[in-house]
Amino acid sequence: MNNEQCCTITCESPLDQNYWDAQYKARATGWDLGQIAPPIQNFINTLENKNSRILIPGCGNTYEAEYLLEIGFTNITVIDIAPTLVTMLQQKFANNPNIAIILGDFFEHQGEYDVIIEQTFFCALPPFLRQKYVWKMHRLLANEGIIAGLLFNRTFEISPPFGGSQKEYKLLFKDAFYFLKLEIAAHSAEPRQNSELFFEFKKNNTVQVHLYAFEGITCSGCMETVSAKFATLPTVLNVSMSSDYSEVLIVSETEIQQKKLQEIISYEQKYKIHLL
Ligand SMILES: C[S@@+](CC[C@H](N)C(=O)[O-])C[C@H]1O[C@@H](n2cnc3c(N)ncnc32)[C@H](O)[C@@H]1O
Repeated sequence: MNNEQCCTITCESPLDQNYWDAQYKARATGWDLGQIAPPIQNFINTLENKNSRILIPGCGNTYEAEYLLEIGFTNITVIDIAPTLVTMLQQKFANNPNIAIILGDFFEHQGEYDVIIEQTFFCALPPFLRQKYVWKMHRLLANEGIIAGLLFNRTFEISPPFGGSQKEYKLLFKDAFYFLKLEIAAHSAEPRQNSELFFEFKKNNTVQVHLYAFEGITCSGCMETVSAKFATLPTVLNVSMSSDYSEVLIVSETEIQQKKLQEIISYEQKYKIHLL
């Protein structure tokens, strides 16, 4: 069994608060570039409104926030689940009114943002959370909001980080976002050259994006059958099921009643779907 399968189905050591805090306590932060990633710096340089509400989830040492502050941005929020790191950030940015530092789980966070910056957060999450990530990003963005940053375009033998590909990201974010950019990043930091994609996606606010808990699927064949059935509904644009089959993301042109979704899968009694 490879690492990805391990952590998508039954992970022995969950990637929770204890895991991440232990990495900071042990100073085992091999992901930390020690500087802002140049493609993200270039993206930030294109932002005109210094009062844009900006979120950096899974912020780590947040060189991005440091740079944003340096060039005059006034409304930055960073969130991370690791207390050791967050205490250090609270000291580092003490009394700076332009940045809010939050200790918490990104998936529980509430707010509204114009820009969300992705830097080695998506790849730190177990892959079964990818559909939830898309749903949460869509909810946190204001109309016209942008999510931008870097995603790996490779796989890894030992995870985290969990890799991915352009094809996978297109299927995952399709229809919930407009793809403004999704390309091999130019000017990546040296260790990541040619292995990451720069992306800039704009929220599609003309669609419904919902995440449902799903019960009863145990194999990829059934997952494909169920997804194909949902996809036949007239206004459904995209259906994406999590790798542990516990959640399904549905993007549609109109609101779809949960009753209708349950009806479609009623051929198998054990299948249950509930809106999250
Ligand atoms: C690989 S590190 C990247 C840190 C930083 N973005 C960087 O590039 O240096 C992943 C970060 O996500 C944080 N994290 C993991 N799961 C999280 C969650 N559910 N909510 C908020 N932060 C989380 C970890 O504590 C860690 O700081």
